[in-house]
Amino acid sequence: MFDFSFPADTPDEERYRELANAADALTEGEADGVANMANLAALIWSFVPDLNWAGFYRVVDAELVLGPFIGRPACIRIPLGQGVCGTAAATGETQLVADVHAFPGHIACDSASESELVVPVVRDGMVVAVIDLDSPRKARFKEADAKGIEALAARIATRI
Ligand code: SME
Repeated sequence: MFDFSFPADTPDEERYRELANAADALTEGEADGVANMANLAALIWSFVPDLNWAGFYRVVDAELVLGPFIGRPACIRIPLGQGVCGTAAATGETQLVADVHAFPGHIACDSASESELVVPVVRDGMVVAVIDLDSPRKARFKEADAKGIEALAARIATRI
């Protein structure tokens, strides 16, 4: 059994350090990328408060394709360069969006989403996936969240 509950007032640095450690432990020795992404989405969901969606889009044949996630059903395919996820994948840069309604081309999958954090997962110099977090709170994500999810992405890049 895996039980990773965290008090709401846990400092971000500690929260994300523990998330990366748990992610490492949970995916170690498992070669199935889908199983690992499914567990990682569940881990993010348990560690990071105030989310309405958490999961993966994978780069497949030059577009993003929905991967394992927690949340409402989402759009399946996103062209590179479109929306917040496609922008992160095309540029290789984290997208920290305080207000999704102000982001040109934002793709609304869940009308509850108000802010979003998308972090590219890079393997051998290529973006192979993005980790996407949505929140129903405006400006939910800060630099500490971006750094934490970037550290997670680096840790699991060879396991998905
Ligand atoms: N909002 C994203 C689409 C994915 S959903 O948030 C799950 C975007 O603009 O790329």
